[in-house]
Amino acid sequence: MATLSLASRPLTFLRPNRRKPPLHRLLLPKPLATATATASALTPPTPRFDPTSTPDPDPTPLFLRPATHQVPAAALGAFRHRAAALVPSSAPHLHRHLRWLLADAAAGDPSSSEPALLRVPLDELEAMWQRHVRCRRPFQYVVGNEHWRDLVVAVREGVLIPRPETEAVVDMVRKVEGFADGWWADLGTGSGAIAVAVARELGPRGKVFAVDVSEVAVDVARLNVQRYGVQDKVEIRHGSWFDPLEDVKGKLMGVISNPPYIPTDDLPGLQPEVGWHEPKLALDGGKDGLEHLLHLCEGLSSVLKPGGFFVLEVKKKQINLLRPFIEVWYAFSAHMTA
Ligand SMILES: C[S@@+](CC[C@H](N)C(=O)[O-])C[C@H]1O[C@@H](n2cnc3c(N)ncnc32)[C@H](O)[C@@H]1O
Repeated sequence: MATLSLASRPLTFLRPNRRKPPLHRLLLPKPLATATATASALTPPTPRFDPTSTPDPDPTPLFLRPATHQVPAAALGAFRHRAAALVPSSAPHLHRHLRWLLADAAAGDPSSSEPALLRVPLDELEAMWQRHVRCRRPFQYVVGNEHWRDLVVAVREGVLIPRPETEAVVDMVRKVEGFADGWWADLGTGSGAIAVAVARELGPRGKVFAVDVSEVAVDVARLNVQRYGVQDKVEIRHGSWFDPLEDVKGKLMGVISNPPYIPTDDLPGLQPEVGWHEPKLALDGGKDGLEHLLHLCEGLSSVLKPGGFFVLEVKKKQINLLRPFIEVWYAFSAHMTA
């Protein structure tokens, strides 16, 4: 984790949470009115179409579907044995996933001796499990949700599964003075997890603009916003980075972004659950992973109001690559802890 701050302001050092994977974020205030941002030759990164992210026909999370498929207890027991037999003993997490899958799929106790009521036909449940174990499809896509902070966030193919390390972004934002009545933007909102979590903490005047270029992400974010009843606080906007924010330029208290920051060259080395199944549009940060980060850093001054904050999730080694650009654009000194 890292913080960057204007030298003229008190420096804030955020302590890393050692229980979580290392976090690296930049937290910086907008340049003071006198600071000059030099023009840059950078152009907005071109949004890329991702042909691998074919969404499920039914995007409703499994646990929210009606339980209309009656299955004899013996048939469900036989499924449980077949499913467990696919899993090597060296993979205890898969046994845990099997328990969770049954808990999401069955109304009531799936180990009862009574006939079970399932939310999908048994053969479909079997196919879901095989895709998880054999095709390495992430469990979150199988059940259609992820537990994130105190939320159960709907996810589906085509949308990044929100990560535990991103949860801390919401805590950083909550520390910003007057945050509850400010206008915020969540750029690259994905499932809308950050936008929903922030919106739930806002006061009557607070608002979040949740932006994404992916239509699937926009649909899923809308579903999550509705499920948590924060439609009055979150405005979802479809488009690339700052493009949909023309009307709120200079009015935002803060920008939050977990943009795609994995260097293109590193994509082939990702674990199959990520590299084969999660959308490249959400992962691919171009050369050195900096393509979107630089565009975001450059555009911040146009949307933030003076004194506004910016929280950005990055890789640790990207901090030193970004620092010279940020120092030129924002004329501040960088301080970080990691
Ligand atoms: C790493 S994911 C983060 C998703 C979510 N905020 C989270 O933390 O789980 C990056 C997101 O940026 C979006 N994205 C990629 N290019 C974009 C662009 N040009 N404009 C807006 N969003 C973009 C992707 O669709 C994806 O949802």
